[in-house]
Amino acid sequence: MGLNIAQKIIKNHLVTGEMTAGSEISIRIDQTLTQDSTGTMAYLQFEAVGIPRVKTKKSVAYIDHNTLQAGFENADDHKYIQTVAEKYGVYFSKPGNGICHQVHLERFGVPGMTLLGSDSHTPTGGGIGMLAIGAGGLDVAVAMGGGPYYLTMPRVCKVELKGKLNSWSAAKDIILEVLRVLSVKGGIGKVIEYAGEGIRTLTVPERATITNMGAELGATTSIFPSDEVTLQFLRAQGRENDWVELLPDSDAVYDEHVVIDLATLEPMAAMPHSPDNVERISAIGNIKVDQVAIGSCTNSSYMDMMKVAAILKGRTVAQNVSLVIAPGSKQVLTMLAQNGALADMVAAGARILESACGPCIGMGQAPCTDAVSLRTFNRNFEGRSGTTSAKVYLVSPEVAAASALTGVLTDPRQLGEAPKIEMPKEFVINDNLVVAPAPEGNTVEVVRGPNIKPFPVNRPLGEEVTGKALIKVGDNITTDHIMPSNAKLLPFRSNVPYLAEFCLTPCDQEFPARAKANGGGFIIGGSNYGQGSSREHAALAPLQLGIKGVIAKSFARIHMANLINSGILPMTFENETDYDSIDMNDELLIEDAIEQVKEAGAVIVKNLTKQSEFSAKLSLSDRQVQMILAGGLLNYTKVSN
Ligand code: F3S
Repeated sequence: MGLNIAQKIIKNHLVTGEMTAGSEISIRIDQTLTQDSTGTMAYLQFEAVGIPRVKTKKSVAYIDHNTLQAGFENADDHKYIQTVAEKYGVYFSKPGNGICHQVHLERFGVPGMTLLGSDSHTPTGGGIGMLAIGAGGLDVAVAMGGGPYYLTMPRVCKVELKGKLNSWSAAKDIILEVLRVLSVKGGIGKVIEYAGEGIRTLTVPERATITNMGAELGATTSIFPSDEVTLQFLRAQGRENDWVELLPDSDAVYDEHVVIDLATLEPMAAMPHSPDNVERISAIGNIKVDQVAIGSCTNSSYMDMMKVAAILKGRTVAQNVSLVIAPGSKQVLTMLAQNGALADMVAAGARILESACGPCIGMGQAPCTDAVSLRTFNRNFEGRSGTTSAKVYLVSPEVAAASALTGVLTDPRQLGEAPKIEMPKEFVINDNLVVAPAPEGNTVEVVRGPNIKPFPVNRPLGEEVTGKALIKVGDNITTDHIMPSNAKLLPFRSNVPYLAEFCLTPCDQEFPARAKANGGGFIIGGSNYGQGSSREHAALAPLQLGIKGVIAKSFARIHMANLINSGILPMTFENETDYDSIDMNDELLIEDAIEQVKEAGAVIVKNLTKQSEFSAKLSLSDRQVQMILAGGLLNYTKVSN
């Protein structure tokens, strides 16, 4: 039986397990990436594991999230990451070099390799044919130490792209259509593998826009083949030697098959407040726009920026619109500056931001109250922009630029002929913002400023797990709800005790105080609890507050893994109606917890207040059971070393 691309890479990297969907496997990791908001924790954890030098083929530490440096905190983190990277064998991408996924694609990604990143949009690397997976910082720390990465063997969904996009339709519209069809839960437990004749018409950056937003499908990752188009991209990056061909076997088997006819796609938008709330621009109508933001790891490539510049050229941004543009990397910004496109953007009235995540992570450019903000980004959860009442629409760069000119949501087909942008034969290559690690790490001193605080480590599981239901939340709670990530809090990513004061406060302001007053307890969640980013702070902050278990209707994959890594029990209701039977402050008890966790695959939770009990599933592999018993991955790794 033939193999698809995902299976081929997994087979080449398999360490343990059977390649049958649903069973636990572990794979060898070739490359890792971190960004600064998760990176400080990943390197603190790497240091705690106690290995003198990273064992991966290449590891890169990017600074792209917290680049404002409004106080000493960001700069402390940057200094810590730079020195720890230098010591332990990690390449360091300085602030200003660009957004991790964009730069990784340009300068480091290699088809056929595995990439583990402490950022949920790591699957962007699938655009170049990598098996690129987002994970928590601790998983990345273990991978840097040479340990395998454990995951559930995914099912593989083939998305066959037929035909060719019409002019003014974009790669963004393809992934929005996939989101419309499959929903934000549609990729859970799956790799989305793109195939069909339509893929040949898509450049590597366009493919990367699509794999990037596979994270919004909840997918383990997304991947394109490595073909002639990939070779051209790598050649233009001066990295032809990194190319290998990677195609599915002609008789490859897939678990699911979705067909999308590119010729039928129109410009679209994901409407507030979910990336799968997708509608055609022509059907939404001309709503007034206050802000347009172009950039992020989804849509900040050279090709995206050149299209935007061509649309803006010789025109003026509407009076009611603030247009901000963040080119994705130093390479992109340099090329725009050299060929005059940057001048066209500035002349039209655009505000040019640093090559960094910026407004995507709420670092500046919060829209005004009740604003409509069009963004080329990948997430539009409520409040992520920094303004709770803002309505964020996710659109292509073409829709964004056209709307910035008219001041209303605009179908770019109204502008006449679409600009034709050619892929450059050669990109401008200048890696002088990348610092190579020291050849001998033992001479390097790691600098720890006052913002670098110890992180919480759990205790081994006790005989009894008991506590109150400290909060009860509904469906689709995101990691932004659990651990808000705004400009005020981002500088404290290496200071978990401080961050914990804000845990789940978008749902309930009193939660942190209540959790502390009760010495910890349980969180009760709905479906898809913990969707969104990979941030393990969404597990570390509850751990800091003494949370022992989360009982939900279902979990998002990375968040569940992060809970297990922290030694917090992730339980799902065997019978979902039991969710309704729990009220806040109910006293819950799991007796004989060690035995129950070891043996049953489920635990009996007693509700002492209601004098009732219910069964909660624990979908844990044998290894995860050991991790829970040890009190998390760090304790487990130390024991197994
Ligand atoms: Fe940065 Fe936003 Fe991507 S925070 S890594 S640009 S999702």
